[in-house]
Amino acid sequence: MSNYYIKNLEEYFQIYRKSVREPENFWEEIAEEHFVWRKRWTNVMRWDFSKPEVVWFENAKLNITENCIDRHLHIRGDKTAILFEPNDPKEKVQHITYNELYERVCKMANVLKEQGVKKGDRVCIYLPMIPELAVTVLACARIGAVHSVVFAGFSSLALATRINDCDCKMVITSDGSNRGAKTIDLKSIVDTALEDCPGVESVLVVKRINSEVDMKEGRDQWLQPLLDKASSQNAAEIMDAEDPLFILYTSGSTGKPKGMVHSSGGYMVFTAYTFKNIFNYQENDVYWCTADIGWVTGHSYIVYGPLANGATTVMFEGIPTYPDHGRFWEVVEKHKVNQFYTAPTAIRALAKESLDFVDKYDLTSLKVLGTVGEPINEEAWHWYNNNIGRNKSPIVDTWWQTETGGIMISPIPYVTPTTPTYATLPFIGVQLALMDENGQELEGKQVEGRLCIKYPWPAMARTIWGDHKRYHDTYFSAYENMYFTGDGAKRDAVGYYRITGRVDDVIIVSGHNLGTAPIEDSINEHPAVAESAIVGFPHDIKGNALYGFVILKEIGESRKPDNLRKEINQQITEHIGPIAKLDKIQFVPGLPKTRSGKIMRRILRKVAAKDTSDLGDISTLLNPEVVEAIIKDAL
Ligand code: WTA
Repeated sequence: MSNYYIKNLEEYFQIYRKSVREPENFWEEIAEEHFVWRKRWTNVMRWDFSKPEVVWFENAKLNITENCIDRHLHIRGDKTAILFEPNDPKEKVQHITYNELYERVCKMANVLKEQGVKKGDRVCIYLPMIPELAVTVLACARIGAVHSVVFAGFSSLALATRINDCDCKMVITSDGSNRGAKTIDLKSIVDTALEDCPGVESVLVVKRINSEVDMKEGRDQWLQPLLDKASSQNAAEIMDAEDPLFILYTSGSTGKPKGMVHSSGGYMVFTAYTFKNIFNYQENDVYWCTADIGWVTGHSYIVYGPLANGATTVMFEGIPTYPDHGRFWEVVEKHKVNQFYTAPTAIRALAKESLDFVDKYDLTSLKVLGTVGEPINEEAWHWYNNNIGRNKSPIVDTWWQTETGGIMISPIPYVTPTTPTYATLPFIGVQLALMDENGQELEGKQVEGRLCIKYPWPAMARTIWGDHKRYHDTYFSAYENMYFTGDGAKRDAVGYYRITGRVDDVIIVSGHNLGTAPIEDSINEHPAVAESAIVGFPHDIKGNALYGFVILKEIGESRKPDNLRKEINQQITEHIGPIAKLDKIQFVPGLPKTRSGKIMRRILRKVAAKDTSDLGDISTLLNPEVVEAIIKDAL
């Protein structure tokens, strides 16, 4: 019997050791006993990081939706699968049972098929956090179409780039979305995007806000009438374990986002197993992850991981501050939420407000609290622990990435003693390494280096859509035979890991990954801008905020600096989305560059952080004189 559920620290170490000593036996037992396969694998795994090639459950056949829905029907058909909490607290909550989810997913799958979507086709989903989003994701998986969910806060240009990169033939969207007191006109964003997407043949539109929208003849259709006509039975497409399940874009060091491709079999096994253990999910629990399905956290820990375990998963359409700062806690009380998973940035924002927003609600249902997406600082950790967990609910600080598919470092609640700001121990099957700058692995305790993973795990991304070389170069070329995460980390005296932050040119703002390159490209398109560089600087709510150093084309640019700043931010909003706006923009006469022309961001980071007492070695700079000018005018 495999052990699906870790009960104490000794057992954790025992299972961990087995997962490292005999990874194939370990994952084979988990896969065998806890999932439904249409055909068994011929080989558990095969790998070669030099290519890189990673195969899990070779030649096995399955459909992930049979694992997330069908197999639950006879044991928990009437249990709530998705609990939908609308943006407006006065609007009715929806309890979608496993039986109903089955029906809705089958109908949607049939609609997709009727509209000509076939196995392997890519479908772009640009929807708010409404049940149709989860249903559509699952319907794609049901028919073997590859879903590419684009967060509905991205601009039309960012959406078009993502649609074109993976040649989506269909887009599913809504008339609009509710965000607190505002509504956003999603359909018109899609319409603008599609002016540049010749490959898109059809658009299905969900009615959410009842707004007037333009429907393009021959391309756009309302979804509901199609669903009304569709059959509620659908035979799941049989997929190979290695068939792509979805593509999800993440930022990179060039302007082009990376479409991370995830597998069907390995992804399912790992997200389900991590979910069960890291949230200690019990049969009647209500679990709530506040992320958006537009990000990987929503894919793995709102949809696939919870549903594969037959859980009740809350889907929240709104924002933490609407109608007031108590919304999260009101929802926890209302649905008696047992596991609550959110981002440090949300905790920091709510911690700034009066405790009255917390204290008027009964939070005693909570058993496990989680955080994800960025390092959590001590103050936020203690606030969360004292006021939300009441010192009783363990906090799982979970480290992972879009690329890893599932949680890689985390405490096991009630098992691993926690330390504020530490993600603690590697999850089962995860073999970590810290590397120094010379490519040597740092052994032992109390060391700090670059975080790598030295052995495959089932949910790792298999490639970057359309660019396997970039996959290799980004993740597998820095260190031989290792996956390089892009993060720095330290290991303390007891072997706990603490993530210190990105060591590459990705900046995490409010838990969202932003690459410097696409933002700089956007700024540079402004007619008055010659060149720019952006860096992150510490921000008490967002974790990091963006600081732009901008060289203008003509000395004596006649427009007012504040107008230019607004225009630059407006442009970034159009190119990428409001999440990438700069908090500070400083106009500078030059950027500190090395003789080989590389911008020395280290110096800019110090200026942005107002910490210029020690700039380190600047002798390799081509233009040391600009440094002084930049410091003098720092904002
Ligand atoms: C950061 C989100 C510290 C990290 C699931 C990583 C974290 C990037 C943590 C991935 C954590 C995520 N502590 N940093 N618990 N979790 N990160 O792809 O820098 O959106 O590389 O995936 O977020 O962000 P992504």
